[in-house]
Amino acid sequence: MSDSLLRVTGVAKRFGPVVTARDVSFEVAAGEALGLVGPNGAGKTTLLDIVGGTQRADAGTVVLDGRDITRLGAAARADRGIARSYQVPRPFGGLTVYENVLVGASFAGQRHARTGPADDAGAQAWHALEVTGMTEVANTPSGSLRLLDRKRLEVARALATRPRLLLLDEIAGGLTDRELPQVVRLVRSLRDDGVAVVWIEHVLHALLDVVDRLMCLAAGEVIAQGDPHDVIRSPEVIEVYLGSTVDAVTDPAPDPATTPPGETA
Ligand SMILES: Nc1ncnc2c1ncn2[C@@H]1O[C@H](COP(=O)(O)OP(=O)(O)O)[C@@H](O)[C@H]1O
Ligand SMILES: [Mg+2]
Repeated sequence: MSDSLLRVTGVAKRFGPVVTARDVSFEVAAGEALGLVGPNGAGKTTLLDIVGGTQRADAGTVVLDGRDITRLGAAARADRGIARSYQVPRPFGGLTVYENVLVGASFAGQRHARTGPADDAGAQAWHALEVTGMTEVANTPSGSLRLLDRKRLEVARALATRPRLLLLDEIAGGLTDRELPQVVRLVRSLRDDGVAVVWIEHVLHALLDVVDRLMCLAAGEVIAQGDPHDVIRSPEVIEVYLGSTVDAVTDPAPDPATTPPGETA
């Protein structure tokens, strides 16, 4: 793919005897959404760590926009437009929602100030709250947020840095049937605005509503990637991940009980 924004090639990673990545290669085009699935312990979060720079791969390369960023740390990668939400939300609990997002916006303000006119970090933070539907809780201490808002705050903080590549780690798990579509709409609108997304999610029907392509990891290896509906019908994916839930997840009106085993609420 010549228009790839992110190109990961031959990535390997182990923690002692545990192999979390073995020759993992994939690409994400600008403005494309890639879904990432696989059983617990497959190495999904570690792969996002390797792309975001909080973990260093043992082998392989990470290229952003044609530039090798394999040796760059997380801050330098954020500087180049990679933002991340964490599986376990970690806001600054003593700060309000707005203040949390302002931290990200201020950081991005410094980045963009180098290349263009200085940005108003406050306006950028407010914009991220609007996009994520959080203006009403802007002045709430983030430590007292309910689950949906904690997940939105993770996305808002990442968005405030105005990323080109957004890495999302399980933002839908535990949400109600009414909340889920809001998160789906949010991710879809970001993608439609040209932000490339890599989204790890066990809530498959949410993922399938948004992503352009799907990749399945198992024991650190890519066992399938491509068209989402082809991937979820692949025998290997059914065997190691979906089991008997595959019919249920492709049903037009799925219910939450069909979430595959391993879902973390
Ligand atoms: N920092 C670490 N030190 C040691 N082992 C780790 C570390 N991070 C992850 N692992 C192990 O790597 C494997 C993959 O973990 P992870 O990437 O979190 O999987 P997933 O997100 O797919 O559930 C697991 O066996 C996990 O225990
Ligand atoms: Mg994980």
